[in-house]
Amino acid sequence: MHVRPATEADLGRLLDCVVDEPVSWAHPERLRSFLADGHYRYDRIWVAEQDGEILARAVWWGFPGAAPLALDCLYVHPSVTDRITLAADLLRHAHDAFGDRPAYHLFVPVGWRDNQAVTGAVGWRWEAGRRAGLTEELERLRYAWTPDRPVPEASGRLTFTAEPDDEVFVAAFAAASAGSLDHHTRQALLVKDAETQAREDLADYLAMPGDRSWWRLARTASGELAGFALPSANQSGPVVGYLGVLPGHRGRGYVDDLLAEITRCHAARGADRVAADTDAGNTPMARAFERAGYELFAVRLVLSAAPLQA
Ligand SMILES: CC(C)(COP(=O)(O)OP(=O)(O)OC[C@H]1O[C@@H](n2cnc3c(N)ncnc32)[C@H](O)[C@@H]1OP(=O)(O)O)[C@@H](O)C(=O)NCCC(=O)NCCS
Repeated sequence: MHVRPATEADLGRLLDCVVDEPVSWAHPERLRSFLADGHYRYDRIWVAEQDGEILARAVWWGFPGAAPLALDCLYVHPSVTDRITLAADLLRHAHDAFGDRPAYHLFVPVGWRDNQAVTGAVGWRWEAGRRAGLTEELERLRYAWTPDRPVPEASGRLTFTAEPDDEVFVAAFAAASAGSLDHHTRQALLVKDAETQAREDLADYLAMPGDRSWWRLARTASGELAGFALPSANQSGPVVGYLGVLPGHRGRGYVDDLLAEITRCHAARGADRVAADTDAGNTPMARAFERAGYELFAVRLVLSAAPLQA
């Protein structure tokens, strides 16, 4: 078995790798378009080859010109009896070459645990990822608001203002990270301080295609900062982005006011869909999406390497 990165000469055989299980995968159309725009690269597609045949293929996604960010697809030919061992070996080789273990993002239908075809497809991939060091599991809920749902009204309890100074948002992000139920934030705070984490979060949101001028601070009637709302967008369209309620103001349902403000911001510009992800464990956030008429349409499983603790 020869394990190696792909080259352009492999294209035809890469396109012949077909996943017929109910999980997300790098299908031919996706492969071609992402190779063309740089989100996929041949040196980030790894294959296990025997006698000229591709028996396993792993495909990583990343922003053009940047490091690989996520494993997007794991395929093993149906003739292989020990899929887990081969897939884990393939991942290990690529991880060594990358000097990193990017997380594996798997998209599955709602209620996937009750669907044997899905649990089977997820199961061997999950175990292969685990053996290659992707030991952390996270379930993210994917919601979407569409204009056939009512546009949430403003309760009037909070006043929303634009704020051009990024430092004010750094401070708000840092304050909201205390006691967060968000997995990414909690993991990050194990290895860095709240301000460093806040600056990184802010940089990520500034890099997204959403407009900085949409960002809002939310104040109570007495002028106290209660939270903030960052409507944003990604390559696929408008997204909720981020919102936070400062710890002293939690438990009053302000999350509804912030989410309503974000939804109104997008609806006012004629958005035909507003997407959002949250961790299954962030129940106050998940409930807020449901109250605001967002529909749970899919689940994203994220398998990642444990952070190195300081
Ligand atoms: C998620 C969040 C916005 C919820 O805000 P909120 O306005 O307090 O939400 P609610 O008022 O609806 O809270 C509902 C219940 O959850 C509790 N709760 C809210 N946030 C909580 C937290 N971080 N930890 C524990 N319990 C929390 C509330 O106290 C309340 O409990 P109760 O029903 O016993 O009174 C807030 O926790 C937050 O800012 N978290 C950090 C940032 C974050 O996770 N943003 C979302 C990223 S997708």
